[in-house]
Amino acid sequence: MKLLQAKSLKGTIEVPADKSISHRSIMFGAIANGTTIVKNFLRGEDCLSTLNGFKQLGVPIDDDGQTITIQGVGFNGLKAAKTPIDLGNSGTSIRLMMGILAGAPFITTFYGDEYLNRRPMNRVMLPLNQMGAHLTGHDSTEYPPITIQGTSNLQPVHYEMPIASAQVKSAILFAALQAKGTSTIIEKEPSRNHTEQMIKQFGGTIEVENKTITITGPQTLTGQTVIVPGDISSAAFFLVAGAIIPNSQITLKNVGINPTRTGILDVLERMNAQFELSQIDEQNESATITIQTSQLKATTIEGSDIPRLIDELPIIALLATQAYGTTIIRNAEELKVKETNRIDATCEELSKLGAKITPTEDGMIIQGPCQLHGGKVDSRGDHRIGMMLQIAALLTDETVELEKANAVTVSYPQFFEDVKQLIQEV
Ligand code: S3P
Repeated sequence: MKLLQAKSLKGTIEVPADKSISHRSIMFGAIANGTTIVKNFLRGEDCLSTLNGFKQLGVPIDDDGQTITIQGVGFNGLKAAKTPIDLGNSGTSIRLMMGILAGAPFITTFYGDEYLNRRPMNRVMLPLNQMGAHLTGHDSTEYPPITIQGTSNLQPVHYEMPIASAQVKSAILFAALQAKGTSTIIEKEPSRNHTEQMIKQFGGTIEVENKTITITGPQTLTGQTVIVPGDISSAAFFLVAGAIIPNSQITLKNVGINPTRTGILDVLERMNAQFELSQIDEQNESATITIQTSQLKATTIEGSDIPRLIDELPIIALLATQAYGTTIIRNAEELKVKETNRIDATCEELSKLGAKITPTEDGMIIQGPCQLHGGKVDSRGDHRIGMMLQIAALLTDETVELEKANAVTVSYPQFFEDVKQLIQEV
């Protein structure tokens, strides 16, 4: 696909719904008792994988095009699926559902597409097996298809997490909700806390003190109404576009601003981007953000920054190509096991367009500012790499061709239409 070009971007975008919260709204709705209603659900492919997965597990779910209604069956009401469950490209679906199914006393098999089937699962299988479930990967590896023999006798766990990962934390929390006794999880660095927040929202009990989470099971949850805010990880593409494209001003409405997710706003501030928040809704953790073309300077991104902006690093790398100085990203080795190896993908694909960007063992080093040029690039089947490359293409008058552009449907089906809508004739 030939990518869009722009001399100026102006206008307002209603950011698509948060992917992490949309997944969890289906999961909590399914395992709660009673009805859950989800408004502003993200109908991207990943979240639809979760929705269809729970239908296969016997949960009645209805989508009238506006609202999703889930008739919760409780942890004990899930039924064995008749066939293996296809979770497509979705790491969040497979890892969190492993935690839920660890407590279901039947066999479930999960598999995914060629990318998901290469992603590491030991990080989740190890603690869940320690709790008494029996999870195995394909051919004695840690890769999907994953077969789960769940147990109604899950044991609590004391688990010090070797990596900062909300997916691993959430899988353990879903299992701990079903185990008899008190589990403690110690995070390496604080990661997104949507699961903890939704346990409380659905009437459960959980204690969080710094990096230590304490939870006692078994617990029964009750159906709720969930209004999903917009996804800051999707907004990130337009935050960066607004800052780096000349003569631009973009307003993003209903952006989720949960503090465990706003690392990109801290980085934009450190890099001197001109933006402001308005219409802040404390309860729903959302705001309107307006950003404009800015003179950017380099920064260093590391340590506890990383989990708060992990999915934004490819687009932050593009931002750094337009900032004065050397930007260093470190402690981000987790990028290697995302939908694709995002250190290699970001560095190799942006280099094809002339960026001065070098991969390191745990991140990247970027020299800016740099004039990008045309070329042929590849999303490598990764939605966030595809969207980052479209924003990069806006910076050049030369043609940029993108392979596998369709990957964006995983999290942002309307992405190219939204970019087009902002482009100004100059
Ligand atoms: C997610 C957690 C993160 C993130 C992913 C969504 C979640 O993954 O990259 O896109 O919803 O819990 P890790 O937990 O593997 O870091």
